[in-house]
Formats: sequence, structure tokens, C-alpha cells
Amino acid sequence: MTVPTAVPMTGSVDELRAVQLDRLRWTVRHAYENVPHYRKALDDAGTHPDHIRDLSDLSALPFTTKDDLRANYPYGMFAVPSDQVARIHASSGTTGRPTIVGYTRDDLGMWADVVARSIRAAGGRPGDRLHNAYGYGLFTGGLGLHAGAERLGCTVIPASGGMTERQVRLIQDLRPDIITVTPSYLLALAEEMERQGVDPRSTSLRVAICGAEPWTEELRREVEERLAIDAVDIYGLSEIVGPGVAQEHAETKDGPHLWEDHFYPEIVDPVTGEVLPDGEHGELVLTTLTRQAIPVLRYRTRDLTRLLPGTAGPTRRIARISGRTDDMIILRGVNLFPTQIEELLLGTAELAPHFQCVLTRRGALDGLTVRVERRETVAAPAADEAALQVRARIKNTIGVSVDVEIVAPGGIERSAGKVRRVVDERPRR
Ligand code: DLL
Repeated sequence: MTVPTAVPMTGSVDELRAVQLDRLRWTVRHAYENVPHYRKALDDAGTHPDHIRDLSDLSALPFTTKDDLRANYPYGMFAVPSDQVARIHASSGTTGRPTIVGYTRDDLGMWADVVARSIRAAGGRPGDRLHNAYGYGLFTGGLGLHAGAERLGCTVIPASGGMTERQVRLIQDLRPDIITVTPSYLLALAEEMERQGVDPRSTSLRVAICGAEPWTEELRREVEERLAIDAVDIYGLSEIVGPGVAQEHAETKDGPHLWEDHFYPEIVDPVTGEVLPDGEHGELVLTTLTRQAIPVLRYRTRDLTRLLPGTAGPTRRIARISGRTDDMIILRGVNLFPTQIEELLLGTAELAPHFQCVLTRRGALDGLTVRVERRETVAAPAADEAALQVRARIKNTIGVSVDVEIVAPGGIERSAGKVRRVVDERPRR
């Protein structure tokens, strides 16, 4: 079992495509020969590893879904004997069985490499101090960033998520250059600094590497302004490897570049599964190219985005994730995502960037209440006035009537990890 050797990410697009094809052929064969699920799925689809002669042949392979991973819980998707598995992680699924992912030593090495590249692209350098506020444990965020930062030669401060008061003290005392954190928790840290009388703009932090949840340009502006830092986007998911599938470059800030020598992207229509051309909006589908423990063919991420040409390097970018197919709210026939609400709320000076979309039902009719905090410095009547304006803007731009309810500062729960934007308060039918 040898994966074709590494290439630097500085070559031409043609070189990259050649490496991808080699690795794709290896991956499909590895999956077919070692994972009964893939053997059956490929046989059922009437295809075979020998049929992969070109990257476009990928589209003949069946998709892999979260349900496939769940059905094969816990070890059914593993392609190596258990004594070659060096690490287990699990996805942060909120319902049902978690999905288990495994890594060989080589997989862990590859993961550390792509995360090291990511931190470098974000502006990190060997010798920088990095405060890692992603949770440690089964979640891939903490240990993933940790290993990549060590690989790059940073000094890692493994703060993990939570204990917000202590995080602020650590940042004050240890003077990190970089923070790795969910964007929502970064805001919670800024608030805690203010509460402790620390000016968030005065810390040693230079760069925030934010991901693990959808966020908007408006939220980027808010955190950059509030903390006087550069905030860049890191994307990834456990099923593929964890953080470090794609990373935004500090100098361009135009969406994460995929590390395409390890992960092959497609965009498909989320309903029909049809492959869409680059530039079109749809669901991101990823195929691993070098994973040994769990090769993954055409994984339906449920993340909605577009593939864009590379700017800071030869690999393609993804546009900022606009939402997940399973976070989409369908309200009286209109589709909307929490990120659209975030954009509108953050454009309103009286309102704070803490909100939830609460689904309700009155009689037979579903309703949506956007519950949002007013800013500390804003009086309740002024915030109520702003709520009316936001309501009108949502109606005008998204085309649906919602209620906007203002709550006092601190009234929306803070999360030390991924934020919960959608709360379903509808009675079960
Ligand atoms: O969240 C891995 C990660 C950790 C990424 C730390 C970045 C930083 P999971 O828990 O498996 O893995 O969740 C993966 O989170 O399918 C997206 O829906 C969402 N997600 C991750 N990064 C971003 C991002 C980690 N930059 C799921 N923007 C993915 C929007 C993101 N959504």
C-alpha cells in the first residue's frame, strides 16, 4: 500500500492534474479492494477501478453519504487492518450515531502537513506563538490545528474551548501571535476581554484562523475591527480529514484554496446530483486522494459553495460556505440560510452579532423568529426601531415575513465551539 509520493504545491495545473489522476486511481483501487461497501457500491453502479482513465471518469462513481458512514459504524469503512490505525476521531453530528474516522501514521503526517500549509497561508511563521482554542478530543479541530502548528514550527498553546475568563488571561500573559478558534467563540472572547477591562485591539494577536462553522464577510469585518487582527477562513470536515482541507490566504482573503493534491473537489446539484461546471453554486463533493485508513469517494459534504480559479496558488478556491443543505430553513416555500440573516443583522449598527433563528408554529403555519441581542450601548427603544427595519429588509431581500425579537446583551447562549444558529421550537406533529 504505497500512496504516490508528495508534490510541492508550486507546480503547474497540468502537473497537479497528473498527480491527482495517479492518486485517484490508487484511491479507487484501494477502496474497492479493501472496503466491502465500496466494492458493492461500484459493482452495483457497473463500474470498476480500471475504468478510471481520466479525472472526468470520477463522475461515474457512486456518491458516499453520511448515511453510508453511519450504516458502517464503527469500523466498516476502514481499509487497513486495525493495528495500522494510529488515531480515531468522531464527527460532531448532533443527531444519531457519530461517524468514526481513523488515521494511519501516514494519514496523520499528511494531515499535519496540510494544516501546516494552512497556517502558513494564513500568515503564520515558524516561531510564532499559536493559541489553539478549538476543542481537544474527538472533535478534529483541536488536535488537527495542534499537529499542524507543531509541524510548521510554532509554539502551541493548547487552550482548547471553554473557560473563557482563563483564555483571556492566557492571551494577556503569553502574548500569542495567532489564535485558532471558531468565529463565534472569537466574538465571545472579545466580549470577555471588554468585561475584564482589556481593550481587544491591544492584544498581541495578529491573525485569527476561523472555521468549523459558517460565517460571513460581515462577521469577518466585525472581528477584524473589534480585535485589530486579520481573520481568515479555514475549512474542513472530519469525514475527509478534519481542518485543513482548504485555507484562505492572508494576502488575498478571497475564499479558501483547496489543497487539491490531497482532496479532489466537485460541485453537484444538491437535488439531482448532476455535476455542475466550476463557478456554479451547489453542494461540495470531496474525494480523498491519499487517505489510507479511510479512503472516501465522492463524499456529499452538504456544504453549499462554488469552485473558483486559484489566485494565491495553482489550486482552486471555494467561495465562503453559504450554508449547509441541512441548515436550510424552508419557510412558506422560501429557502433561507442563517448566513443571510447574519449579513443583514451585522449591517445594523444597533444590533449585536449574537442571534438565533427560532422556528415556531402558530396553528398550521410555520413561523421564524430572529432573536437578536441589542448592542450594550444601545437603549431598548432604539433597538426595537432597528428590529422593524431589519424585518423590512428581510422581507425585501429574502422575500419572507419573519418576527425580529430583541433581547438584552448576553441573552443569546454563547458556545465555546460551534454555534447553534437554528432552534426548532415547533411542536412535533
Ligand atoms: O469542523 C473541522 C474543522 C475544525 C474545520 C476547525 C475548521 C476548523 P466537523 O466537526 O466534521 O469538522 O464539521 C464539518 O463544519 O461540513 C461545514 O458544514 C462546517 N465547516 C467547517 N469549516 C467551515 C468553514 C470540522 N470554514 C462541517 N465555513 C463542515 C463554513 C465550515 N462551514
